Amino acid sequence: MSNEKIKVAFIGLGNRGFAHAYSCSLLKDKIEIVACADIIPDKVERFAKEYGVPAEMCFESAEQLLERERLADILFVCTMDQQHYGHSIPALRKGYHLMLEKPISNDPLESMEIARVANECQRHVVVCHSLRYVPHYRKIKEIMDSGELGEIMCIQANEEVCYWHQAHSFVRGNWRNSKLSSPMILQKCCHDMDMILWLTGKHCVRLSSFGSLSHLKSDKAPEGAHDMCSEACPAYKDCPYSIKYYLDHIERGTYGWPMDVVEPEMDKFKETIKTSPYGRCAYKCDNDVVDHQVVNLLLEDDLTVTFNMCAFTSGMGGGRGIHVMGTKGDLRGSMGDPIIRVNIFGKGEYQIDRSSSETDDLSHGGGDFFVVKDFVDLLEGKLNSSVSSVDKSVESHVVCMAAEKSRLEGGQVVVIDEYMKSLREGK
Ligand SMILES: NC(=O)c1ccc[n+]([C@@H]2O[C@H](COP(=O)([O-])OP(=O)(O)OC[C@H]3O[C@@H](n4cnc5c(N)ncnc54)[C@H](O)[C@@H]3O)[C@@H](O)[C@H]2O)c1
Repeated sequence: MSNEKIKVAFIGLGNRGFAHAYSCSLLKDKIEIVACADIIPDKVERFAKEYGVPAEMCFESAEQLLERERLADILFVCTMDQQHYGHSIPALRKGYHLMLEKPISNDPLESMEIARVANECQRHVVVCHSLRYVPHYRKIKEIMDSGELGEIMCIQANEEVCYWHQAHSFVRGNWRNSKLSSPMILQKCCHDMDMILWLTGKHCVRLSSFGSLSHLKSDKAPEGAHDMCSEACPAYKDCPYSIKYYLDHIERGTYGWPMDVVEPEMDKFKETIKTSPYGRCAYKCDNDVVDHQVVNLLLEDDLTVTFNMCAFTSGMGGGRGIHVMGTKGDLRGSMGDPIIRVNIFGKGEYQIDRSSSETDDLSHGGGDFFVVKDFVDLLEGKLNSSVSSVDKSVESHVVCMAAEKSRLEGGQVVVIDEYMKSLREGK
């Protein structure tokens, strides 16, 4: 590429669209935001104002933007899960490279088709699997690849969703119902599956999974709970899933995500929540995604992985923890702790303190920034495309959907090769 700035366009100006635009603004000497689209005019107006998009490059929908000739080098696809396929295929055929929000699609065949069309059109599709780009996990991978831990035998990984995050996003919010978005294991944990495959560099051979929606459902509602959450509800005071979480933030003046998903303006929040889906009793929603799930994976070379996703966590672990066990040593890390602990058998522990990292304050531990920066490096020819290959992302999605199949079949073992074959044959 020449010295010209990389032009980018956005479809879907929600939470993720704005987060990526912010990362682009940190790279403004390299990137220019030239066009945007959303079906909500207020969002378009706010985005255009914040990032200087001219009126003639603002569109009322992704479809309208995609009717035009190619407007940019990269299209950021930040619409909802079920829309990704419909937006990605025409965009690739128009010649856009894609920064595609995960999940690629909740249908593994659609995910494979996006990868096929990307390869056919010779376009890059970088899926926003931010964990691969987080400095914390990059350090862990560096240690694993160095051979210091010997041969990696087991990994134990936890995804600690956090009780209020579960109530916000997966009970009241956009990802509450697998028919409207994706199963939890794909929506929330495709990051973890991607990270496990990327860290080990191995394929998954077979897996089994258990899990269910066991608590945040109507038969577990506290006695006398109202349909809408408010101080008037007898359960309000002692309910950890009440809207008090939002109101406490407002009290402290710490407005931002997730309150701004409910209502962009703090002054209007208390009125909006009274009729918003986010104001519903967390025990009386139309949610069906699981609140806990475990997956056991067998990777190549007998490497075993246990993965545990759980809503009932405090958030103290920063969302994710990992224990990597090798023949010469083990390693423990947590997203909420800047210290990575490495213990070489017979030699003792040493620690790597990453607390001085400048990027940890950025969203997703710096992952959101580096995924965009690496895309720039990729287009400038400074980076090998294997780091962000869409084929690898598709593999993690297949593993997630195989885990969902296993869970729905009561924990039956799913052999990945056989599962892939049955998908391809449409069985
Ligand atoms: N990488 C991550 O860590 C991460 C985190 C959260 C969400 N996500 C994914 O990002 C995507 C977006 O999530 P979000 O939280 O920003 O949701 P959101 O609801 O805040 O944003 C989606 C936006 O798309 C807009 N939209 C809908 N139809 C459209 C159309 N036809 N044309 C243009 N715009 C349209 C909506 O109006 C909305 O503004 C989802 O697929 C989600 O799963 C990824």
